[in-house]
Amino acid sequence: MPGSRIVAMGHHQPDHVVTNDDLARTIDTSDEWIRRRTGIVTRRIAREETVTDLAAAAAGKALAAAGVDPADVGLVQVATCSAIDRCPSIAAQVAGRLGIPAAAAFDVNNACAGFCTVLATADHAIRAGAARHALVIGAEKMSDITDWTDRSTCVLLGDGAGAAVLSADATEHVGPVVWGSDPAQGNAVRILGDWHPSFAQDGQTVFRWATTTLAPLARQACERAGIAPRDLGAIVTHQANLRIIEAIAAQLDVPDVLVATDVVESGNTSAASIPIALSKLLTRNEIQPGTRALLFGFGGGLSWAGQVVTC
Ligand code: ACO
Repeated sequence: MPGSRIVAMGHHQPDHVVTNDDLARTIDTSDEWIRRRTGIVTRRIAREETVTDLAAAAAGKALAAAGVDPADVGLVQVATCSAIDRCPSIAAQVAGRLGIPAAAAFDVNNACAGFCTVLATADHAIRAGAARHALVIGAEKMSDITDWTDRSTCVLLGDGAGAAVLSADATEHVGPVVWGSDPAQGNAVRILGDWHPSFAQDGQTVFRWATTTLAPLARQACERAGIAPRDLGAIVTHQANLRIIEAIAAQLDVPDVLVATDVVESGNTSAASIPIALSKLLTRNEIQPGTRALLFGFGGGLSWAGQVVTC
């Protein structure tokens, strides 16, 4: 069946590494607490770079690796929940910087489920003939919306961006999306709109929800792609917390499948976490072309989106 294929990826993270011990110098926390509760050891924090800079850097790498002429890109979508400027969109700014002259360009805010959401909508656009090549990006500067005095959230978050070039293909490489939301729990993750918004969440509510409801949905994404979880070569969930990642993998009962754990070195980069983790696995040759990878994002909304991609 005709569909779309990820032809190249790229990622970009700020140079500045912040360790748990660095944080323990300014707030009442410890390396031991953060590792035990979250698995996080380091995170990257942008100083000068904006969220648009991060997005453009990752997207530029993906576009160069794809060898696609910018004039042939028909769609640019950025998944983000940390855009400071409402207009122009980050996507429109990235298109301008990369010399993409005439693409549809817009941002999508579906929090940590954002990258899988734009991957699905770009795939749908390509299938509908609305674009032949699409640039999909997850980009976040969470440090812009972090309360650095709140130890329950600031230890979790990081900055970065990941991007993929998606092209029309004779066969389907991006499987059907499984997506949805649970607005009854909508207040569990908050970035509320005042002039200085900061990230807040009911951590235990999100933890319970993630570890009890997501594995069956991830299994559904495999079923919709016509495979069983054991046929996967890799699982790349949103990188929120190592304990959540391990709980979902355990419930899928796939002990031999590679599970991405980039949260350990990058922290939670929201919509950027899945494309950063997948791009790293490809760059490091930890997964080979042809590998079937389950991507599964979840977070604010509460919302989720996931699909199986053939790399
Ligand atoms: N260092 C030391 N102690 C801390 C810290 C810290 N950084 N943060 C909280 N504590 C304390 C609390 O004050 C509390 O103390 P108390 O018992 O004296 O009241 C104690 O540690 C336990 O706090 P909990 O919040 O119950 O800790 P928990 O084990 O639930 O871990 C965590 C918190 C890591 C946030 C966890 O709930 C979690 O990961 N939840 C899911 C978050 C998530 O996945 N969000 C994703 C969606 S949003 C997004 O991705 C952008």
